[in-house]
Amino acid sequence: MSANEGWRAFFDGHAPFYMQNAFTRNTEAEVEFLVGELRLSPGARLLDLGCGTGRHAVELARRGYRMIGVDLSRGMLRQAQAATQAAGVSVDWIQADAKRFAAVACFDGAICLCEGSFGLAEAGEDPIAHDEAIACALARCLRPGARLVLTALNGRRLMHQYSAEDVAAGAFDPATLTERVPLEWDSETGPRKTLACEHGHCPEGLQALFETAGFSIEHVGGGTAGDWGHRPLDPDEYEIMLIAKRTGSTP
Ligand SMILES: C[S@@+](CC[C@H](N)C(=O)[O-])C[C@H]1O[C@@H](n2cnc3c(N)ncnc32)[C@H](O)[C@@H]1O
Repeated sequence: MSANEGWRAFFDGHAPFYMQNAFTRNTEAEVEFLVGELRLSPGARLLDLGCGTGRHAVELARRGYRMIGVDLSRGMLRQAQAATQAAGVSVDWIQADAKRFAAVACFDGAICLCEGSFGLAEAGEDPIAHDEAIACALARCLRPGARLVLTALNGRRLMHQYSAEDVAAGAFDPATLTERVPLEWDSETGPRKTLACEHGHCPEGLQALFETAGFSIEHVGGGTAGDWGHRPLDPDEYEIMLIAKRTGSTP
């Protein structure tokens, strides 16, 4: 299986059903929150990295922002394209690996939400290097002063969830906060399955990662889909939120 084959193949197969996930139901409220946090006027150029079906990008485009959505999965981007047509808005959709997305300092803001590439490593890939590459890609894309809103898996929850037996069985690596995830989906050629990894983060590690990449941190707290806001992280909640501002330096 080639690099990215696991997650890409999974999301290609899952794409037609993605918007049935309960966590997608709060998109409009989430977009209201994003508009407040990014502090940009309509017309600003925004990047949605790991945009999926484009649920945030399309709503932001409706509000007048110039949106570029990047995703690895052509299946997800097909859904995104259909959503833009249904909404009567225009978004540039780009199929690319977030780790290598190479626009330079041309965005006024960025979002990377609900593990939109960040934290989704392939089996056998170094999960820390994976997320470092995405943090650096986000830093490269943003002009100094631009803001980023990102949500990531909460590694503290993973530490509580997994037992010593799970660790011994290889289901969870407490050193990197990475869980092994069996992926199963239906393809045109029948049911398929493979293994991938999900990399969790704790607040201080997330903060250090993005500071090193070239951001100043404005907020790290709870960020589970459906419950966004400036609030502390509940140790057992699903996701962490980071809000950060691009500094002047280049990583
Ligand atoms: C859980 S979905 C999140 C989508 C969207 N941000 C949302 O909030 O609904 C994760 C997305 O990340 C994409 N993805 C995974 N790895 C990626 C990578 N290396 N580069 C770009 N996109 C990636 C997947 O294809 C999928 O669309």
